[in-house]
Amino acid sequence: MIVAPSLLSADFSKLGEEIKAIEPYADWIHLDIMDGHFVPNMTIGAIVVKSIRKVTMLPFDVHLMISEPEKYYMDFVKAGADIITVHAEATHSLYRMVKEIKKHCKVGVALNPATSLSTVENILDEIDLLLIMTVEPGFGGQKFIDGMVKKIKKARKMFDGYIGVDGGINESNVKKVKEAGADVVVAGSYIFGSKSYKKAIESLRV
Ligand code: DX5
Ligand code: ZN
Repeated sequence: MIVAPSLLSADFSKLGEEIKAIEPYADWIHLDIMDGHFVPNMTIGAIVVKSIRKVTMLPFDVHLMISEPEKYYMDFVKAGADIITVHAEATHSLYRMVKEIKKHCKVGVALNPATSLSTVENILDEIDLLLIMTVEPGFGGQKFIDGMVKKIKKARKMFDGYIGVDGGINESNVKKVKEAGADVVVAGSYIFGSKSYKKAIESLRV
């Protein structure tokens, strides 16, 4: 299992130290970018991503929860993203968006819980990561939606690339998402709410 800690639940007053603390154990670093429009919350922009890029060599998995990603994705490419994931619901031209991102780095598409896999089935050959949201995006610390396990299983039958799951992941549900076919787990509050980041990350490595 690839473990991607989400910095959303880290202490933002010491982001560099938080990154250093997870670095020896984490595979990717998941960065949640929210615009207060696509989701009802705001987080960080490309300026912050660029500045923490200096702290670590770990791949930056940038999750854009923003409307009109076509206007902003290039800022994140320049800031040092290794993977850029856009929401299928956030753009009218998902195919073009995917093709554009692919010119610069790896590309992912995220699906909200209510969004069907059929939305992406025609472009699966073009993407590296399919990110299945297991909570409604916008906030850390929400409860895993059990009904999404079926969606992960269905996605696994359709797609050979990375399947990621994001939202409400902890040691008690990581096994079932793995069995359903997930390769990547994103976890925020579970890891950063633990006393030992090492133990928390290792408990997700099923
Ligand atoms: C939610 C974000 C997640 C979030 C996960 O909108 O996309 O990446 O940080 O947090 P937890 O693991 O606390 O559900
Ligand atoms: Zn995320």
